[in-house]
Amino acid sequence: MKKILYVAGEALPFASSGGLGDVIGSLPSALNGVGEDDVRVIMPLYSQIGDQYRSKFEYVGYTFVQLSWRHVYCGIFKYEHRGVTFYFLDNEYYFKRGSLYGEFDDGERFAFFCRAALEVLPIIDFIPDILHAHDWHAALSVIYLKRCYALNDERYANTKAIFTIHNIQYQGIYGTELLGDIFGLMSWDLGIVEYNNCINLLKGAIVCADAVTTVSPTYAKEILSPKFSHGLDNVLNAYSYKLSGILNGIDKEYYNPSKDKEIFANFSTRSFGGKKLCKSGLQKMLSLPERDDVPLIAVISRLVSHKGLDLVMLAGDELMKSDVQLVILGMGDKSYEEYFKSLAERYPDKCKTLITYNRDLSKQIYSAADLFLMPSRSEPCGLAQMICSRYGAVPVIHETGGLYDSIKDIGNLGGGNGFTFAAYSAYEMLGSIYRAVTIWYEDREFFEKLQKKVMRVDFSWNQSALSYIELYKKFD
Ligand code: GLC
Repeated sequence: MKKILYVAGEALPFASSGGLGDVIGSLPSALNGVGEDDVRVIMPLYSQIGDQYRSKFEYVGYTFVQLSWRHVYCGIFKYEHRGVTFYFLDNEYYFKRGSLYGEFDDGERFAFFCRAALEVLPIIDFIPDILHAHDWHAALSVIYLKRCYALNDERYANTKAIFTIHNIQYQGIYGTELLGDIFGLMSWDLGIVEYNNCINLLKGAIVCADAVTTVSPTYAKEILSPKFSHGLDNVLNAYSYKLSGILNGIDKEYYNPSKDKEIFANFSTRSFGGKKLCKSGLQKMLSLPERDDVPLIAVISRLVSHKGLDLVMLAGDELMKSDVQLVILGMGDKSYEEYFKSLAERYPDKCKTLITYNRDLSKQIYSAADLFLMPSRSEPCGLAQMICSRYGAVPVIHETGGLYDSIKDIGNLGGGNGFTFAAYSAYEMLGSIYRAVTIWYEDREFFEKLQKKVMRVDFSWNQSALSYIELYKKFD
């Protein structure tokens, strides 16, 4: 039995800002379910974590963490959730903030988190065989492990490090003057973390880790080229022997249309009638015309540039000429928020925009939709295309990253489970939407069969958990 520690900035159901939280909230439990390893998670104790959990956390102890010249308090709490032990690191100065990320001192906050994650291991009595760090917030844990702890303390000497890139766009880039003062690294560590005259924490973790993974096989190839690498293709090509891609899965229990309490009616492939009620329920709630004879298209997304929303902005008015309904849920960059609000104002009978993020609401939309649009310019994995499938909303996707690995066009030999387009263009996207809408209007029976088919696709963690176990075995 191996001890594996996930180091991450977020995990559901405690605190999350996107897909990373889904993955850290479900993969460890899937791994503990199928394998023999003991996978645990360590994350910050954010003030955002709800009292329903916080009040049940068990206090483990405290220590002081040396972060450069700072001597900082760190409380340790733990909680068992679905067969996984979660540890929470407490320091209100760093984690009692308005949001999880995006604070002026994120570099220092996550340096503290990473240093503390290593410092507390003897206290929680869990020195892992593998430290598995996720995204730039956890990158310093890999760097500290290899550059400080493993070299100076033999208890850490055998711990291997795996680093997973969930999105290469976010790298943790800082001025080099922070090297000693904030990150507590030595001048001879500069070469490890320096890239383009800055400190780049993602680069440092790639250099130091024993293995680097990303969240789909296609994205693992894509990020070797400048088009997708956000500047890091040189580094990744130099270390490509470490790199692999494993497709994410989703939590099939949490996303379950036959049992969900949040949706207007339950349904399954065998008893499909409830989906109609989900659609009329949502239409009523959003004051859209309650029509069963119009296809409902949904977009649920963080409203940020890589999600391909500029295509939707180009095509919005054109799409509104057809007899369709469009529901958008998400928040993010102001330019997208303003555009989608104005689209809904201009087409009140066809389009509704909800600038928020709410998981229950998202389930109501997934369950009501006939089609789900995900035109991402790049997509490391993407979970929404899997979640919508589970709720019988047929995905329309741009062929990139994990979208390409999970959704194949129905025009393909042997079937397919969605509508795809290869070139990143608004015309191509509209073409695929129109193909789908035409089938919806002309052959409802076929479309319903397709909906049931996509619901049956296995996007659970089963397969991917085995791939992670294989990867961990390499370090036996
Ligand atoms: C990031 C990526 C997304 C991926 C998720 C979980 O949010 O943008 O594609 O599904 O991480 O790995």
